[in-house]
Amino acid sequence: MDTVRLGVVGCGARSKGLVKGLFMPHIPRIRVTAVCDEFSDRAQELKEACDAHYNHDTFCTTDWREVLDKNKVDAVLVVSGWETHIPVVIAALKAGIPAATEVGGAYSVQQCWDLVHTVEETGTKFMLMENCCWGRTEMLCMNMAHMGLFGEIMHCTGAYLHDLRKEISNGVENHHYRLRNHVGRNCDNYPTHDLGPICKLLGINKDNKLLTLTSMASEARGINTFSLDAGGIYERLQYQRVAQGDIVNTTIKCAGGQTISLTFGTTLPLPYTRDFGVYGTKGCYTNRNKSIFLLTDHTSRDGDKWQANWGNEDQYREKYDHPVWRKFLEDGVVGGHGGMDGLAYNALVDYVTDLIPCPIDVYDAATWMVISALSEQSVAMGGMPVPIPDFTNGKWLLGLGKERKMFGE
Ligand SMILES: NC(=O)c1ccc[n+]([C@@H]2O[C@H](COP(=O)([O-])OP(=O)(O)OC[C@H]3O[C@@H](n4cnc5c(N)ncnc54)[C@H](O)[C@@H]3O)[C@@H](O)[C@H]2O)c1
Repeated sequence: MDTVRLGVVGCGARSKGLVKGLFMPHIPRIRVTAVCDEFSDRAQELKEACDAHYNHDTFCTTDWREVLDKNKVDAVLVVSGWETHIPVVIAALKAGIPAATEVGGAYSVQQCWDLVHTVEETGTKFMLMENCCWGRTEMLCMNMAHMGLFGEIMHCTGAYLHDLRKEISNGVENHHYRLRNHVGRNCDNYPTHDLGPICKLLGINKDNKLLTLTSMASEARGINTFSLDAGGIYERLQYQRVAQGDIVNTTIKCAGGQTISLTFGTTLPLPYTRDFGVYGTKGCYTNRNKSIFLLTDHTSRDGDKWQANWGNEDQYREKYDHPVWRKFLEDGVVGGHGGMDGLAYNALVDYVTDLIPCPIDVYDAATWMVISALSEQSVAMGGMPVPIPDFTNGKWLLGLGKERKMFGE
């Protein structure tokens, strides 16, 4: 199979961007043959674009079960609201159809186990589309970390700080899943963008594992304040009770001795950052000022006057850019989010067509997605530590002492 007939479940903003902005112009190995949205106008709009581009009659439905048909698709991509991700993936895998899902958190520990068991029992391909694992900075640092340049890594930071007050508050008009999640839950509801690359760097599920977490949430004021200030259609939310704290801080302990600190916040006026940071015994990277500090290049006393070197990340790219990114730059960067989407979705096609092993497998997916469910429990208990399951059931131990590879390449 060279070309993948893809069924797309969910025809919202992300889906349209991927199909029209990435697959159609840049990934001819993907052919979208089926589209589905619970709102028929959204499905119809994407169908018409696919009909015109691929010159075929794209199957169009409001019931995702109808997409799970091997006569229509070779693989399914789930780009719907978070609540549907795991149920649709599990149904696809049980139908023998490879499945990939866009990112989001899980709702319970059990559904993560269900996902793991379904992949293990069916043997059907599954991939989590965590595009940030292909971020140039994240890959640069993973490459440098795996080369030992930061020494022994002791701490990593990550965040999903993104001002989504308008998107969330528009949830009724846009039928957007974030609003109901913010009204009803209090957790790190979007942990994979920041945690995913950190886990790849720390070898989680390969020769390391996440042990416990503790999460604390601030009160929720952002949405109410925004609604009052913005007025108009937003006014109705000014007295809405919102469960989701504006900032959720999560600290994770790893079996390898490291700590990970994650900050989540989508309801305050703040600049976007994933706050990626890597701190080791011989150096560090911090996205806060995009700087790399290595003892091989400087003495520790230089750290006192490090400001002159803020922004020096670019200087390390020529030498340490990950080979995947070197090739991508040579071939021509494509796709949104600075090229991460192009790399992630090309990897999906390579995986489905048997060219590469799964870059982000079910153990990674379960480990990263479960953080939402576990942080919800910890927040509810005032920051109590909560154990993080080992979804590999001990298989991570087999990697101990072996060279750490990023995507199993
Ligand atoms: N990787 C990234 O950088 C990135 C960026 C944006 C969004 N996303 C992810 O993409 C997904 C979609 O996000 P979005 O911004 O497009 O949201 P959206 O609300 O615009 O689109 C989601 C669509 O799914 C549809 N849907 C929901 N439940 C359904 C069901 N049961 N059956 C069929 N259709 C259903 C909705 O009607 C909606 O049209 C989310 O998981 C989000 O986290 C990822």
